[in-house]
Amino acid sequence: MTFDYPDSYVPLCQRLGLDRGIPYTPKWSAEADFLELAVDVLNDEAPEVIVECSSGLSALVLARACRLAGQGRVYSLENGVEFAQATREALAAYDLLDVAEVLHAPLRETRIGDECWQWYDLSRLPGVVAQMLVIDGPPGFLQPLSRYPALPMLGERLAPGCRILLDDADRPDERALVARWQRECPGVSVAWPETSRGCASLRWPG
Ligand SMILES: C[S@@+](CC[C@H](N)C(=O)[O-])C[C@H]1O[C@@H](n2cnc3c(N)ncnc32)[C@H](O)[C@@H]1O
Repeated sequence: MTFDYPDSYVPLCQRLGLDRGIPYTPKWSAEADFLELAVDVLNDEAPEVIVECSSGLSALVLARACRLAGQGRVYSLENGVEFAQATREALAAYDLLDVAEVLHAPLRETRIGDECWQWYDLSRLPGVVAQMLVIDGPPGFLQPLSRYPALPMLGERLAPGCRILLDDADRPDERALVARWQRECPGVSVAWPETSRGCASLRWPG
């Protein structure tokens, strides 16, 4: 946890009362504008269940927004055991362990059709149905279209109308995987709200 973070995070921390520091790392943390957008969606749509791919500052922000909204529960999938623990400690610092759970989900060889991917082991994710999905992992260096498996693997756990936010959507891989999702998931709609690293905001059909 640190107080040494860019000024761009100050309004977010003030908005959420994050006055005990945040688990910020320059290269890895989601940008403040993406997190603000996620809080706006959470406040507007009041999801009961939020699933997140990759823990960290984003899990703390989502959990704190749930606390302030008085509803919502976050399930954060994290492949790195040490990152999972660090996120749990950040949640504990704000007494948020009752609204957010970090699930250690090691990356496993996962077959989708005739392709193999590295993706989260979902065995610890309880049988929940999400109204909001936030995708900020696995890291892009891992494989081409690294975050593509999110919809094929989690689709049946998404409620009709589920809002899906994909971070880093200005990268060519993310553009390509969103196009693939659109081809493969009829009825999914996509908007591109402007954020510093790009965001795809999708609506699951139904
Ligand atoms: C883009 S980061 C996720 C950041 C998270 N959503 C947040 O806002 O803090 C994607 C993944 O990178 C890994 N990661 C996080 N910090 C890292 C670090 N300092 N070095 C290497 N990998 C890291 C974690 O496994 C994390 O789930």
